[in-house]
Amino acid sequence: MEIYFCTGNKHKLKEYKAILEVAGIKVKKVSAKLIEIQANKLEDVAKEKVKTAYEKIKKPVFVEDAGLFIEALNGFPGVYSAYVFKTIGNQGILKLLNGIKNRKAIFKAVIAFVDENHKIHFFKGCCKGKIAYSIRGNFGFGFDPIFIPKGYNKTFAEDVELKNKISHRKRAIEKFVNFLKRKYLSKS
Ligand code: IMP
Repeated sequence: MEIYFCTGNKHKLKEYKAILEVAGIKVKKVSAKLIEIQANKLEDVAKEKVKTAYEKIKKPVFVEDAGLFIEALNGFPGVYSAYVFKTIGNQGILKLLNGIKNRKAIFKAVIAFVDENHKIHFFKGCCKGKIAYSIRGNFGFGFDPIFIPKGYNKTFAEDVELKNKISHRKRAIEKFVNFLKRKYLSKS
């Protein structure tokens, strides 16, 4: 089976391909100008993005919205992660946490999928961890070089294979795959 993914993020696309193709699902990229609305929840941002994507291709399609939520910063940057990464980046986050012992953080990803009946389905994945004291690793993207998943001593950017096994994205995709298999493959 194949599925359309609307994204402008080549790193996300690579991770989706790696994870979904193991499950026998081929990912086809669709491009559209997706506007990130200002909202308090990833689900609301993803919902608006997927509606735009569906209007463009008029076929079942999914999008993803993700963010890094840092406990000591009351969940910041959260839904503003893309903007914060673009402006202050990893160095800026480390500066904000300078002298702060509570390094707990959580990555969240929400997939929004529109089916052929225009119904929107959401699939959420989370990965707990902590913020490192320095930038470490050359793989992955975004906040990967400062995020250490719980139970490990490496950042996501130091071990991308590990990332693809336990990440927020992997967990959201698992739920999505189960849904797709139930909905489409059980009928064929
Ligand atoms: P988006 O709005 O879902 O594209 O993502 C928000 C921002 O969060 C991106 O610009 C990345 O900087 C960051 N981000 C999202 N997912 C990840 C991830 O898996 N690793 C590291 N950073 C991520």
